[in-house]
Amino acid sequence: MDLHEQARDTLRQNDKGGYTLPTHGLYPYQWNWDSAFAAWGFTTFDPDRGWIELETLISGQWDDGMVPHILFHRPDPGYFPGPDVWQGRGPIPSSGISQPPVAATFMAKMLEMDPTGEPRARAMWPKLKAWHSWFMRWRLDQGAVCVTHPWEAGRDNAPDWDAALRGVDASDVGDYTRRDTSHVDPAMRPTKYDYDRYIKLVQLGVSVRWDQRQLQTLNPFRVADPTMTFTLLRAQRDLHAMGQRFGKDVSEIADWITTLEAGAETLWNPDIAGYDSRNVHTGAFNGILSNASALCWYGGLNDHRARPQVERMLDAVNFGIASYDPQADGFEPLRYWRGPTWPIMNYLVGSGMEEQGQSDLANRIRSDTARLMAQNGFAEYYNPHDGTPAGGATFTWTAAVWLGWAGNDPQTRKGAA
Ligand code: GLC
Repeated sequence: MDLHEQARDTLRQNDKGGYTLPTHGLYPYQWNWDSAFAAWGFTTFDPDRGWIELETLISGQWDDGMVPHILFHRPDPGYFPGPDVWQGRGPIPSSGISQPPVAATFMAKMLEMDPTGEPRARAMWPKLKAWHSWFMRWRLDQGAVCVTHPWEAGRDNAPDWDAALRGVDASDVGDYTRRDTSHVDPAMRPTKYDYDRYIKLVQLGVSVRWDQRQLQTLNPFRVADPTMTFTLLRAQRDLHAMGQRFGKDVSEIADWITTLEAGAETLWNPDIAGYDSRNVHTGAFNGILSNASALCWYGGLNDHRARPQVERMLDAVNFGIASYDPQADGFEPLRYWRGPTWPIMNYLVGSGMEEQGQSDLANRIRSDTARLMAQNGFAEYYNPHDGTPAGGATFTWTAAVWLGWAGNDPQTRKGAA
């Protein structure tokens, strides 16, 4: 079967009717940023289904504006921690944290691809604005966007969180049974030490019914993060542009953009020549060079300072940008966000570079990503050296990246012809 058809099939197979699972088994619910990618992927062949995906995601919005990182539409005992553990307080059972806000950016793309969707985009615009406002209200540190749980950043077990997690006392976390390690090899998943702390942070949120004001003092984990900062900065720019088109007052969004630009600058760490995460409680940089630094172009910054290190990271592997500096101690090519390459990050990084005139690097990342999928299918992530597929298989957002971007790579098309 042609790869485009395979990608469409992957989306259809993961479609649960109104929302799409990242992959069967490992992730049996609707995940926030996965869903935004799915919406875009569907829009390449079934725009109506694409719009529905975003509408379903936003229907889980809490009354304080947050759009949760997981919506538990229908119970599935194969996943832990489920709705009973998270005890979200929105209209649909959910987790209590959010995820990188890429939805507005994909909505802007979908509107370009399908202008007839404008009434639906108009209806979602104020809700997206309320979500963005929630980040500005509850997640800023010196203008940079923080995460209050490692899973909020979408880079679940990146080394960025190690220092702050050491400040989380999980001695009373109690017994629980993980499910992730029964779906995939434990060597590719986070350790028990980390998992105890992930669960402890959930318990803390539940103890105050996810009251953000109380969590500001109660939660020992607060890390300013380049993934969040750049995705929100970008999303605000897209929301602003759509707002102008829709005749809305966008002055508040313009101020948010200025704040976030200043915040992004506070994440620049000259010692690693990259954008770094910062432990808010100690003020210390983590000294971690990851693929999140390379999101600066996607964030709308044309930053020449960031390029040399990103180029070095690209040179060190064969398939796109590794999630963690391949030359750093602790780099693990197959353990989740500590080394593997992720097509969705390659897309965000590569498309941002393209927009900012860094076409040489952008083309390289796109061809790498296309080869990766052509050779190894639509996996969750891959070994960046040899392309070994890892994690879950037949993955929604990987297939979406093929349909919307990598599958259009001129080099791969030539090779396939
Ligand atoms: C993992 C990833 C996260 C993603 C989820 C579903 O938790 O770290 O970014 O949203 O899987 O694919």
